[in-house]
Amino acid sequence: MKNGENNTVNPDTPETNRNLHTATMEILTYPNKFLSEPTHPVKNIDGELQNMIERMAVTMYQAPGIGLAAIQVGINQSFLIYDVSPPDSERSLQVLVNPRIVSKEGTTISEEEGCLSVPDFRADVKRAASILVEGFDRNEKPFRMEAQGLLAVVLQHEIDHLNGILFIDRISALKRGIYKRKVKKNLKNT
Ligand code: NI
Repeated sequence: MKNGENNTVNPDTPETNRNLHTATMEILTYPNKFLSEPTHPVKNIDGELQNMIERMAVTMYQAPGIGLAAIQVGINQSFLIYDVSPPDSERSLQVLVNPRIVSKEGTTISEEEGCLSVPDFRADVKRAASILVEGFDRNEKPFRMEAQGLLAVVLQHEIDHLNGILFIDRISALKRGIYKRKVKKNLKNT
C-alpha cells in the first residue's frame, strides 16, 4: 500500500541507503497478470525468506510505502510486510507469514486508497472496520491480532494482494474503467 500524500516517509535516511542499488526489487504493476494469481503458502521460514523480507523492506521504504506483499515483487508466496508507524517516529517493520482474516466486523471507507502496483490512481474503498488476523511472524511464532483503523485497512489491502486481488477490484466498474482506459492509453504511448 502506498503512503498518503501527507504521510511521506523520507527515503534518504542512512538505514534505507544500505545496499540500495543492489537490494531493491522491481515492483510489478497493473495489468501484470502475476498480480491476479493467488499465492502459495510459505512452507519454510528460512534464511532465503529472511533475505527476501530484508530486500522487500528496503523496497517498501524507498517507494515509499506502508505495506508490501511478496506477490508485488514477483514472489508467489503468502507473506507481507508493513510499517504503519508515524513518519517522524522509529521504524517498526512487521512481517506476516501465511496471514488470513478469520473474522471481520463493521464497515469503513478507506479514503483515497493507493497501491504501489497501481501507480497514479487513488480511490475510496469499502473495508471492514475491524478484523481478526491469524498467521505467523518471521520467527515462526503463531500470532493472532485484532486490528482497527489504518492498520486494519493496510492488512486487508495486503492480504487481498496475496489472494490476487487489487484495490481496483473493490471499486465500481465505472471507476475501474477510468483507470483501465488510462493505463491502456499510457501503454500505447510507450
Ligand atoms: Ni497494494
